[in-house]
Amino acid sequence: MRSFGTTRSGHEAFLYTLKNANGMQVDITNYGGTITRLLALDRNGHRADVVLGFNSVAEYEAGSPYFGCIIGRVGNRIAHGRFMLEGRRYAVATNNNPGGIPCHLHGGAQGFDKVIWKAGDATIDGEHAITFTRLSPDGEEGYPGNLLATVAYSLSSDNSLRIDYSATTDRPTPVNLTNHSYFNLKGEGASDILDHVLTINATRITPVNAGLIPTGEIIPVRETPFDFTSPHAIGARIGADDEQLRFAGGYDHNWVLDHADGELALAAEVHEPASGRVMEVWTTEPGIQFYSGNFLDGSLTGKFGGRYVHRGGLCLETQHHPDSPNQPAFPSVILRPGETYRSSTIYRFRAR
Ligand code: GLA
Repeated sequence: MRSFGTTRSGHEAFLYTLKNANGMQVDITNYGGTITRLLALDRNGHRADVVLGFNSVAEYEAGSPYFGCIIGRVGNRIAHGRFMLEGRRYAVATNNNPGGIPCHLHGGAQGFDKVIWKAGDATIDGEHAITFTRLSPDGEEGYPGNLLATVAYSLSSDNSLRIDYSATTDRPTPVNLTNHSYFNLKGEGASDILDHVLTINATRITPVNAGLIPTGEIIPVRETPFDFTSPHAIGARIGADDEQLRFAGGYDHNWVLDHADGELALAAEVHEPASGRVMEVWTTEPGIQFYSGNFLDGSLTGKFGGRYVHRGGLCLETQHHPDSPNQPAFPSVILRPGETYRSSTIYRFRAR
């Protein structure tokens, strides 16, 4: 453990490191439970840092587009920052307005990404895990109930970075936790990700309106630029004349995964042909947000001085479908007293 600097509110942030015998390394800070560094090997055994991020907590606080952090209490968007629960209306911050339409994004003004978590240790499947825990108080960001959340990161000998989320509450509340790492398998700051080849094990998406809020429909991807059931370069169809791509300025959509609910299954695979690096994404979640880094614009500088260009990183955010609190047909995100929220995601690395 080493210092990662001091937050504006005077709290020291720390970095924690996971390593395995193959040379993989992951650094995580208790500020936002944020993955700040992930070293993965290419086909020649060369390591590169494949996640976007910064070198100090001050830079994250100064303005990070959710690089590497835990997202909560509810990931992605809630239409108009409003929802009904048990006959009561709740209002949460409207901190985002794509297409000029205000919505709640990634837990609000001070989500789980912008707070210091309590760090600890655990053993998961025989591996050492670093845990981050926090009590999100009743009313925080407008959400009901005291929510006690724990996120455990572990790294196995088969190069799997595993993230296990759990939470309990004392009042019914929506919960939808994820991690918002931006990956570039060539190495952060090197280039855009348009040549990365993506496969997603999903035949359907939840299309959005101009405010990037799901319309409520679930539509097939067949014969659209959203069909990644077989491998496609991300850049191959991103410029297609397609309303969904236009709304988001590229890919920024939720795929409805084909696997059974709650089963840990392979959701997506990314292959970067030049380095040979491959990243598999496994999850128990019913959905995955593939975001092609459309809001990156070259104004942020990475850990080794490289600029984070437009589409310089991609996110594969495992999740329940966006705006679920307002979408009765989507799998529920409501956690009730006595229940335990559980979610697991694995990012597994290899090279070919
Ligand atoms: C998610 C959203 C995007 C964007 C990024 C953060 O992926 O779906 O629209 O807000 O987070 O910049």
